[in-house]
Amino acid sequence: MIDVNEFYTKKLQVLNSVFVPSAPIEVKDIFSGRNKQIQSCLDALFQKGRHVVLYGDRGIGKTSFANIIKLILLHDHCVVKLNCDSQDTFESLWKKVFNRIFVTYRQKQQPIGLSSKEHNVDERISLSSLVMENGELKLNFLENGLKLAPEKLIVIFDEFDRLGESFNQMQFVDQIKNISDNYSGITLVFVGVAENVNNLIGKHPSIERNLKQIHLPAMTYEELKNICITGLQKAEMKMEDDVIEQIVKFSCGFPHFVHLLCFNSCKSAVFEQKEEVDKRHLNLAVQQSVDETSESLREAYQKATLATKDNIFPQVLWACSRVPEDENGTFQANDLVGILSDILEKQIQIQGFSYHLGKLCSKERGNILVSVGPSNRKRYKFKVPLMKAFVKLKSFDKK
Ligand SMILES: Nc1ncnc2c1ncn2[C@@H]1O[C@H](COP(=O)(O)OP(=O)(O)OP(=O)(O)O)[C@@H](O)[C@H]1O
Ligand SMILES: [Mg+2]
Repeated sequence: MIDVNEFYTKKLQVLNSVFVPSAPIEVKDIFSGRNKQIQSCLDALFQKGRHVVLYGDRGIGKTSFANIIKLILLHDHCVVKLNCDSQDTFESLWKKVFNRIFVTYRQKQQPIGLSSKEHNVDERISLSSLVMENGELKLNFLENGLKLAPEKLIVIFDEFDRLGESFNQMQFVDQIKNISDNYSGITLVFVGVAENVNNLIGKHPSIERNLKQIHLPAMTYEELKNICITGLQKAEMKMEDDVIEQIVKFSCGFPHFVHLLCFNSCKSAVFEQKEEVDKRHLNLAVQQSVDETSESLREAYQKATLATKDNIFPQVLWACSRVPEDENGTFQANDLVGILSDILEKQIQIQGFSYHLGKLCSKERGNILVSVGPSNRKRYKFKVPLMKAFVKLKSFDKK
């Protein structure tokens, strides 16, 4: 007979490998959907002189997507992936690239002993060691490095939005053009948080034709459901259909919350020696997932709803998380009337909460919402879209 602890530890091990709320996906078999975007990314990567800009909201799945692209191409390309950071300069970024590329370099080996002759040996060395001298990049390091680079090279720059003041963007853009024109085997992929491609890489008419823009949208219902189903299959567990549906609805298109809720609800079930997850396990998981959500989201929620007196800020925010949005993720105050009346269990008109909406857009309440459009046709949206899912969880937990 399998003992209790063994059951728990074994299940937990599998659950930890299939539900990964805090790490990007690195293997194909637990990566869900994104077929259309993968196809369009591969199409662009195979076009000479074309580079790819992959952009989307924080936490939407950009790094996981880039990891899978890398896996798909690795068999016949040299693919390097690196993270940009706020301290990077033009030079440090290229140094990171060349540090990750290894080339075969033929060196003359001096004779050892009397009988041996001078001969050549092939060595695998990093490209950076060929373009540096005494720890410094040589003049023309970039041109030389590009010339020595492997024939089919793909460089993925993740977190491209993090580059700061010290980075010379104009110099970089000039190089994109140079690479398109003179090194057709080299393709660059820029990945980052942005609402549109101009926010990520700036508007540069000179390279617009060379860039293929790929927007990574919120994941669809089916794609999110698939994360649950794949994970459950691998863990040899079951989940009530209603629970899966609820998890997908909570997550608002963000895979992070599907992983988090699946992991915690499966863990609750396993703790009771059960292999089927029910509503009770989900309720426990919601509570736990709220506590485990990143500090920044929890703090922002607290700042937005804090008050000494009884107030309806939490309920207004909850209504905002439930309202259907347009394609830009925005809604009108009017759309909230029915939902908020429902939440408060009394009829409320716009005048009863427009003050709250205004305050939720203010610095005082951490700009949790932002308003767009003219004052007579104002629309609202969450500043950080991931917050919408957290508000749903938090509000459900407090019910
Ligand atoms: N296609 C997918 N299938 C299954 N899980 C996914 C998928 N894409 C992302 N995830 C999961 O969603 C979470 C966020 O993914 P990821 O880190 O790739 O997002 P990101 O957009 O790079 O985030 P950030 O903006 O913070 O860099 C992770 O838990 C990851 O495992
Ligand atoms: Mg990322």
